[in-house]
Amino acid sequence: MKTPHQLLDAFKARFGTTASVCRAPGRVNLIGEHTDYNDGFVLPAAIEFYCWVAAAPRRDGRLVIHSENFDETVEAALDSLSPLEKKHWANYPLGVASALRQAGKPFTGANIYIAGDVPFGAGLSSSAAVEVATGFALLGQSGLQVDRLELAQLCQKAENEFVGARVGIMDQFISCFGRASHALLLDCRSLQHEFVKVPADLQLVICNTMVKHELASSEYNARRAECEEGVRILRKAFPEIRALRDVTLSQLDEHGRNLPSKVFARCRHVITENARVKTAVEAFRREDRQALGQLMRDSHRSLRDDYEVSCKELDLMVEVAAAQPGLIGARMTGGGFGGCTINLVECAAVSDFRRKVAAAYSSKTGLTPEIFVSPATGGALQIVVLENKPAG
Ligand code: GLA
Repeated sequence: MKTPHQLLDAFKARFGTTASVCRAPGRVNLIGEHTDYNDGFVLPAAIEFYCWVAAAPRRDGRLVIHSENFDETVEAALDSLSPLEKKHWANYPLGVASALRQAGKPFTGANIYIAGDVPFGAGLSSSAAVEVATGFALLGQSGLQVDRLELAQLCQKAENEFVGARVGIMDQFISCFGRASHALLLDCRSLQHEFVKVPADLQLVICNTMVKHELASSEYNARRAECEEGVRILRKAFPEIRALRDVTLSQLDEHGRNLPSKVFARCRHVITENARVKTAVEAFRREDRQALGQLMRDSHRSLRDDYEVSCKELDLMVEVAAAQPGLIGARMTGGGFGGCTINLVECAAVSDFRRKVAAAYSSKTGLTPEIFVSPATGGALQIVVLENKPAG
């Protein structure tokens, strides 16, 4: 990982001035998948992988953005920001600048240097980390107060409107509001949230399948459309319904025959997953590990069978983990179609768990998985970099 001093040195070498430094974390989601854009509940935690951004103001109305990871620089005029080709890394920071401008935040341009260690395309929210770190840095270097809720919403807007991914609010929210040693229960309708302590003798172990299937972004938007279709049909019988969050399982069963079978299954996932989030929070609070494990298993099954966003590598990673001593629960995390699983593992068992899961997964797939351990960590912040470099 880069230190803030190295980041400042790299900034100075490129832009010739000093800068302010911000960072924002990636996340895992413990439970509550594909519920955020249905006004539902999620339980993510920020992790110790960050996007770092150094920024300094310019007065000429231009943005000059350098990505260390892609070793590329992009320039744009603030007055005419528009997306580059699909999937270009710069669409995330450009989208945030555009959303901040539209929200009336006055800034006159900036030099920006981005370096991240959140793995790309692994379902750990590297995009939200870039967005939030960029937004934090742009506001900070203009002397503007950072309202974290507004920042999370503007970053989501950037991703929805500029990047074109119809994501919910979970990733940007947890990147802004994460807290050390805690997961965050978020009501994605009211945006009320509370923190839920992760027991001190458990670790979050993240297993990267090392695959990312191409389908991910088109299927994501397709799932969202199916949920909206479910709401449209169910509303004929229950006009008070605004989102799947408002539908009960018995209402779905009663009127399910009016829904195409895939839409029915999508709705069933969302409704049961929302209930699982609330039960999981209670299980965390009473330290009922058996219940937690069962809820994570059920969540994975529902994502695999009803929502159809898992894949054979994720299923295998969950299955391999289930056979290990010390595992409390395992499931896929994030949007799906590859990426990572989240595993709650007893601290004492973690090193054997890593070794054995890696060996079993590679022997069955020929792939070498990355297995990370991270405590739940705090949200985005500006780093105060002292003038004197540490010795050595
Ligand atoms: C992606 C999106 C989130 C959320 C998850 C699935 O991470 O960015 O908004 O919908 O997928 O739970």
